[in-house]
Amino acid sequence: MPKIQLIKCHKNLNSRGDWTIDTVIHLDDGTVVSQTVPEGASKGELEAISIPVETAVEIVSHAINDALVGEDAEDQEKIDRILIDMDGTPNKQHLGGNSMLSVSLGVAKAVAESRKLELYEHLAFLYSGRVPDTSFLKFPTPLFNVINGGKHASNGLSFQEFMVIPSTSKTIVEALEMGTSVYKTLKKNLEEKGFSTGVGDEGGFAPEGLTLPRALELIKSAAGENFVVGTDIFFGLDAAAESFHHQDKYVIPEESLELEPSQLNDYYEKILNEYEIIYLEDPFYERDYKGWVDAYSRFSKKIMLVADDLVVTNAKLLEATISKKMANSVIVKPNQVGTLSETFDFIRLARNNKMSIIVSHRSGDTAEDSFIADLAIAVEADFLKAGSPVRGERVVKYNRLLDIYSDING
Ligand code: PGA
Ligand code: ZN
Repeated sequence: MPKIQLIKCHKNLNSRGDWTIDTVIHLDDGTVVSQTVPEGASKGELEAISIPVETAVEIVSHAINDALVGEDAEDQEKIDRILIDMDGTPNKQHLGGNSMLSVSLGVAKAVAESRKLELYEHLAFLYSGRVPDTSFLKFPTPLFNVINGGKHASNGLSFQEFMVIPSTSKTIVEALEMGTSVYKTLKKNLEEKGFSTGVGDEGGFAPEGLTLPRALELIKSAAGENFVVGTDIFFGLDAAAESFHHQDKYVIPEESLELEPSQLNDYYEKILNEYEIIYLEDPFYERDYKGWVDAYSRFSKKIMLVADDLVVTNAKLLEATISKKMANSVIVKPNQVGTLSETFDFIRLARNNKMSIIVSHRSGDTAEDSFIADLAIAVEADFLKAGSPVRGERVVKYNRLLDIYSDING
């Protein structure tokens, strides 16, 4: 039963050059691990608050350290309960979701190391009460973000993320080969057409002069060069509609459109009919329940209708989403809620309601952190959303899946 001996925090840089925190956990058996936290740019209104980094460093190294020193590190639920009670607010504004998460995840990582378990094994034990049999591990299918817009780029494209999705029948190695292949073909085609191939925050290309249909056309033709679209490979879209929602309308200047919610659903219907899209995330602003309910009734039998800002990894918000029938799939981002135990509660609720689970990175992430890859395997997530197959902070998550795959397959 290793006990927490010391928790110390310092600041470090994330992929956007913004300050984040790095928390170092020492156990009394000599284990030392560190854990950074990611940061979003297009956040849900009800996410756990990230407090300023200097304050978080102080809180982790003093208040949280003092509260947790001597505690049994294996009792993750108790550690998280202490943090939640100390904070005492619904959105973690007192201790900060960033402070709490670095400690909550860091403790789990320390215990895995101390018990000589792979992180996913320990996380699976915490989630389901058993260490998985490695011959039956389920690997998530990666969602590769290949074109960036919205708040992740300054290219005037209203929609945030355009993804390619290998068939779920592919192994993780095949899926990654497909992702990099389409990415490189798309780069070549963009260059040939005179588009810029600079990238956005999540590593997808971010040229100016795109509209949603043009972006999908480019992706479809790149994917079609080497794969059978609709059989081997599909497409996904994170609209992140909050960023183009203005006074009850959805404003898409690059197409000269100002749409009512029902018209936006007509717009989606048209593109779903034209392209092999199986995944649509945040098609409406998080308080536009009417838009969501209408989207659910129109599309949920055909595609994954994915809630991110609508639920922010929060079980209470997920209950409302389920009872109002607004989504059939959910994004899981531990930093939206602040502790590992609450993340597990959310995933259990989603699973019990037969929703698809997509574990996700944030647009500001770190190249040291592959925690979400282990989390995705531990909870048998259906998908892992970790950006494009370039940039260190994205690739580290995919490479962790490859490491695990190669360990168990020899
Ligand atoms: P964020 O965006 O990490 O910038 O909040 C990601 C998303 O909306 O899925
Ligand atoms: Zn999203």
